Amino acid sequence: MFQSSPKTFVRKEMMSNKILVPIDGSEQAYKAIDVAAKLAYNGNAEVVLLNVIGREQMPEAIRRFASVEHIEGPPEWQYEQLVAAGLLKAGQQHARNKGIQTIDTRVRHGDPAKAIVEAASDKSVGMIVMGNRGLGTVKGLAFGSVSQKVSHLAPCSVITVT
Ligand SMILES: Nc1ncnc2c1ncn2[C@@H]1O[C@H](COP(=O)(O)OP(=O)(O)O)[C@@H](O)[C@H]1O
Ligand SMILES: [Mg+2]
Repeated sequence: MFQSSPKTFVRKEMMSNKILVPIDGSEQAYKAIDVAAKLAYNGNAEVVLLNVIGREQMPEAIRRFASVEHIEGPPEWQYEQLVAAGLLKAGQQHARNKGIQTIDTRVRHGDPAKAIVEAASDKSVGMIVMGNRGLGTVKGLAFGSVSQKVSHLAPCSVITVT
């Protein structure tokens, strides 16, 4: 479950009481919030929920519709914002139900893994807790591409939740 050594985990954890939980609306991302809640419980940690608006988050049918209708920019953008806001609102409610008291929500654009790693640096988080899989449709893999990339590039410890 721990992607890096327990030693690193303890060191970074002591440096920052922020836990970054990137969420994409998947079941595993909700499980990641549950794990963050357990980790936050004693340390009174702040949990930062992040959704990255990337191309893969937009259903193919909507993308095709937007391109056929020559919709670029605002309507597509509004749709993405609505999805992100909805995901974060649901995540925030879930986090509250699990007893997390300090919750920050963030939206970023671009490549999900890169944006997650950048957010971890910018917000000086002590650790990232995320799902091992997400909304992706490829079955049979232990890890999704976002979780793999984040665990390689993250400036802090990464816990991937199965
Ligand atoms: N767009 C995103 N915004 C925020 N977090 C994400 C995003 N995509 C994936 N994640 C995080 O990465 C985890 C693993 O997802 P991913 O690697 O994309 O697997 P899959 O290939 O199954 O979709 C998710 O559970 C979630 O925590
Ligand atoms: Mg995915």
